[in-house]
Amino acid sequence: MDIIAVHGGLDTSREREFMEVLEEATLQGYRLLSADRVQAMEAVLRVLEDSPRFNCGFGSILNLDGEVEMDAAIVDGAAHRFAAVAAIRLVRNPISVACALMEKTDTVILAGDGAVKFARQEGFPEANCVSEEQLEAWHQAKESLARGQTPTQNIFTGLEYHDTVGCVVWDGAGLGAASSTGGFSLKMPGRVGDTPILGGGIFASATSATVCTGVGEAFIETLSAKYVDEQIVSGLHPQQAVEFALRRLADLKGAEGGILAMDAEGRIGAAFNAGRFPVVVLVDGRIRDDFKPVNLKPELDPEIN
Ligand code: GLY
Repeated sequence: MDIIAVHGGLDTSREREFMEVLEEATLQGYRLLSADRVQAMEAVLRVLEDSPRFNCGFGSILNLDGEVEMDAAIVDGAAHRFAAVAAIRLVRNPISVACALMEKTDTVILAGDGAVKFARQEGFPEANCVSEEQLEAWHQAKESLARGQTPTQNIFTGLEYHDTVGCVVWDGAGLGAASSTGGFSLKMPGRVGDTPILGGGIFASATSATVCTGVGEAFIETLSAKYVDEQIVSGLHPQQAVEFALRRLADLKGAEGGILAMDAEGRIGAAFNAGRFPVVVLVDGRIRDDFKPVNLKPELDPEIN
């Protein structure tokens, strides 16, 4: 059985144009999954990084200095391999740099200028990731700050729509997880979130694969992705595990988030405690129309209220 589950990030729109990109990403990954699960996850995330609708790659949110700095990570749970880039700039597809790091080196996390230097050595060309929409949103946020006001935009999306993305996969032999993000609006230059922190915002083992979206600092401080793995190892269904982890995140840190997880039986869990969390699930080549992540705070869903 081949399974891919992809999410488009906390508070990302579920409108058709967003779901179509998520479905296309899922299908791109599925084509490669039986041959190579790492390449499959890379293919999924490259589609999302190339789309300006999601907070990763081109279209990432801007930091305090008006620059895009991105984090991306990939875990092959079966092979016990992990690689991540953090605060990387001027590359179109950070996930591909993370994959190159995994394939070519024994280093597991490369950050900042070192990550950019490695990317160039590996032939990744300089690329602008600043979209016009995000630049406009950044100017508005800076103007609000200059007036002494708190910017009204969503901190993860900058615009009303889009946030960190991720996927989990199962190819019948092993599990994997991958994630990519621009972080949050007006973050400090050099700030690194939970996406490249193994056990914080991402985890995969022989038993489970997990990706998280939301307040990165809270996911790191609660080691939420590892917590999901522990719950699944102890026998919980992934749905129960992600709901427990989110309630714990809210109790310990008062934070919002979304978590997507899968176990080695191909069972999926997806939950969030915010407005939206679009997820696409594909099983043996077919998109499951019946799959819906559970909202632990449905009162925040703009389509219900
Ligand atoms: N979850 C994305 C970040 O905080 O960077």
